[in-house]
Amino acid sequence: MTTLTPQRIAPIPFSSVANPGSGERLSVAVWSRPGDMALAIAIRIAELIRQRQAEGRRCVLGLATGSTPIGIYDELIRMHHDEGLSFKNVTTFNLDEYWPMSPTGPQSYHLFMREQLFDHVDIDLSCTHVPDGMVSADGAAASCAAYEAKIRAAGGIDLQILGVGRTGHIGFNEPGSPRASRTRLIVLDRVTRNDSASDFFGEEQVPIRALTMGIGTILESKQIILMALGEAKAPIVAQLVEGPISEQIPATFLQAHPSVEVHLDRPAAAHLERERTPWVSRSVDWTPSMIRQAVVWLSGHTKKAILKLTAEDYNENHLQDLVARNGSAHDINLIVFRDLQETITGWPGGKPRDRKQAGDIDRPRDEIFPKRVLIFSPHPDDDVISMGGTLIRLSDQGHEVHVAYQTSGSIAVSDEEARRFLDFVRDYSKSFGAANMDHSARKMIEVLAATKPSDPDAPEIQRLKSLIRREEAKSAARVCGVGGERLHFLDLPFYETGRVRKKPITDADIDIVVKSLRAIQPHQVYAAGDLSDPHGTHRCCLAAVFAALDIVRGDTWCKQAPIETLLYRGAWQEWGIEAIDLAVPLSPDEVARKRRSIFRHQSQKDRPLFPGADDREFWQRAEARNEATAAKYDALGLAEYEAIEAFVVWNGKSID
Ligand code: F6R
Repeated sequence: MTTLTPQRIAPIPFSSVANPGSGERLSVAVWSRPGDMALAIAIRIAELIRQRQAEGRRCVLGLATGSTPIGIYDELIRMHHDEGLSFKNVTTFNLDEYWPMSPTGPQSYHLFMREQLFDHVDIDLSCTHVPDGMVSADGAAASCAAYEAKIRAAGGIDLQILGVGRTGHIGFNEPGSPRASRTRLIVLDRVTRNDSASDFFGEEQVPIRALTMGIGTILESKQIILMALGEAKAPIVAQLVEGPISEQIPATFLQAHPSVEVHLDRPAAAHLERERTPWVSRSVDWTPSMIRQAVVWLSGHTKKAILKLTAEDYNENHLQDLVARNGSAHDINLIVFRDLQETITGWPGGKPRDRKQAGDIDRPRDEIFPKRVLIFSPHPDDDVISMGGTLIRLSDQGHEVHVAYQTSGSIAVSDEEARRFLDFVRDYSKSFGAANMDHSARKMIEVLAATKPSDPDAPEIQRLKSLIRREEAKSAARVCGVGGERLHFLDLPFYETGRVRKKPITDADIDIVVKSLRAIQPHQVYAAGDLSDPHGTHRCCLAAVFAALDIVRGDTWCKQAPIETLLYRGAWQEWGIEAIDLAVPLSPDEVARKRRSIFRHQSQKDRPLFPGADDREFWQRAEARNEATAAKYDALGLAEYEAIEAFVVWNGKSID
């Protein structure tokens, strides 16, 4: 059997208590790779199913939808195919369903479960249950009572899988849900509707109400596993694990259950004390990166520049151990100060030899100048949003800069935007007296007119929307000094579903990325290292880049000049100062030019179709983030810049 252990955490028995000595009120496992986490949980589910099979009993699973459990379902399907895991003795109860909602609606949880699991295994569909989204308002109470009765008749839920919403909901039990609540019709929180907006092509289309198992229903499950992935969940995870039980954060009710495990990836765990200040609750290995994290934290905590920190500051803030080992606060301050200072460079591609001056910090492979640089941009605007200033610098400094747009980004173009372009085509042909406008444009206008806002896009409309984004990307790259001949539109197939839900990454996607690497043979690669974009596209794009880099690593050209890979973050969150390897300062002029290039993405301006959790426009987020990074460097006592773009060097393994 495969045994997987979450990093730095001892294997936990199923009903273990929270980490003693920490402020944690639930058992927590933190995983470096979400894939390992999904596999470990799938193994547990499979063991339970097989155990029940051996006992001649049915196994009753409580299931969740959403992005988080998809990895588990993929593993279960794989185990069914490769390891003969049978679901014949499995009964399932899903947590919730939108209301009203047809079981065949593209956003329905009925359909989700069929697509993600049920249609791929040998489960008896009559043993799967999802609340009935077609029930009338008057019939909802009786339907919910019947749902509860079925759970009881099945002998109760053996294992309940949960995700958690940013509001702290479990199921759709939004803030204010009582501990004793049962399965019922509820009104969705505004934040939840915003999070679901992308599935429905706009918040206006998201149902106001939903049916959900109650907190009381969930707590009756014999065992519970709650999972969370990604940075966006970090604040709520900290509250649910470390905060007091409160109706305002319904997930905290889990603290009263005897057998709950919380499984997190590192970004979702980032706000837990064990990640932010691990030295407070346990003895840590003082690696250079841990020392950097501690000193950056201490500087922020005491609001003092690094070089002003005293032995008392260390002693009084749980860092006695660190200062005792090094003997002097001054020495630690200097080490971290210099380390951070070395991250700052205005020459992200390296400095040519003839520009080298005394006292300059050596950058790797300065002897190769200019460099071939390949920037992977998951969507057509991530390059300029996330690293537009660096892109401008690289190009202005004479490097051969290529940008590979990994997906078409078509689903983020509104129907209205598409209609505007089609009207233009029609009026343009008319203005030349053309009797008939182009046939394909006419067809598209008809298709668009027949499309409801929450319908997936037809292939012609996908193509039109892709073109709109493509032209915007070209225009934005021109502002940064990169011509069309160096732009590569990869249109990775995993993205092209016409829907928010994407297909899994396959060899076809990886092959395309490999081809672009082999064609350009870059010295330096930039890729989006952020994992919390709302639909998981960045996560898939990064996986494709890592897999492709692994493949080309054996190529002669790559062996001769190994690729330096830098990860940027951008539209959704930024690297913590403690993680940054390269900090590229931007002048006020570069900030303005970067903004102009982001403005060229007109279809995403004012209010993008998928804004995620943040109401601000992308350029505002990017500027705020770059200014905030600069302000942090300033507060640490390093240097005062207008803005900074930050990068982490990929270590060839995971992104941690
Ligand atoms: C889904 C459900 C919700 C989700 C939660 C997290 O059936 O009940 O509570 O688990 O909203 O959703 P994701 O996983 O998409 O972040």
